[in-house]
Amino acid sequence: MKLRSIEDINKDVEAGGVHAVAALFEGEPECLYRYAKKSPGPIVEIGTYAGGGTCLLAKASREGCGELVYAIDRHEGTAPHTEGQNATPYKLTDWKRWFLEVLSAEAYDLVRPVGLWSYEAAPAFASTQVGLCWIDGAHVYRAVTQDIKDWSPLIHPDGWLIFHDCHVPGVRRAIEQWMNSRECGFELIETVGSLAVFRRKP
Ligand SMILES: C[S@@+](CC[C@H](N)C(=O)[O-])C[C@H]1O[C@@H](n2cnc3c(N)ncnc32)[C@H](O)[C@@H]1O
Repeated sequence: MKLRSIEDINKDVEAGGVHAVAALFEGEPECLYRYAKKSPGPIVEIGTYAGGGTCLLAKASREGCGELVYAIDRHEGTAPHTEGQNATPYKLTDWKRWFLEVLSAEAYDLVRPVGLWSYEAAPAFASTQVGLCWIDGAHVYRAVTQDIKDWSPLIHPDGWLIFHDCHVPGVRRAIEQWMNSRECGFELIETVGSLAVFRRKP
């Protein structure tokens, strides 16, 4: 299976349908929900911003697997390892929006906020088999490459690694390089909007 073309994804993006908080496009919330509901282990969200995606993952977990959702984000603008490549408007006060969102969705019992960059948090998960890891942090080549390196070995044998915004050039380059590498033990099983879902090769 191949990634959707940038042109096709962009057509969806231009057609709108963006979820107000989570910035998800048409069909993407349902896709994430489906996998999160049956996750075989804890769920990790890399880049949680204002909590929209976190609440979606927690809802799916509550209605299915019952696993915790670890929402990882420093909320401090530009991560050191993306210096110069990722000028973002993100800031510490985004946590306030995150807590309000998660509390008003009554999702807090299933959610654990992790105030670290993903590469700082990964070692704490070394003995965990992550059921679903959703990579939606810095959308630049170096950060996505680092996330793949740190998090793909932690995925449960029956779990999934899901990427968002595969039409962004740096994200796409990192994924394609990984997919085409000899050491990639994963295969692409579904694409919806700008999402790409990978599982371990049988
Ligand atoms: C596109 S937003 C995430 C959107 C979120 N998943 C949602 O559903 O609303 C990107 C977030 O990634 C965070 N971020 C950037 N680099 C990161 C990293 N290395 N680790 C964790 N979070 C990161 C930013 O602070 C920002 O809040």
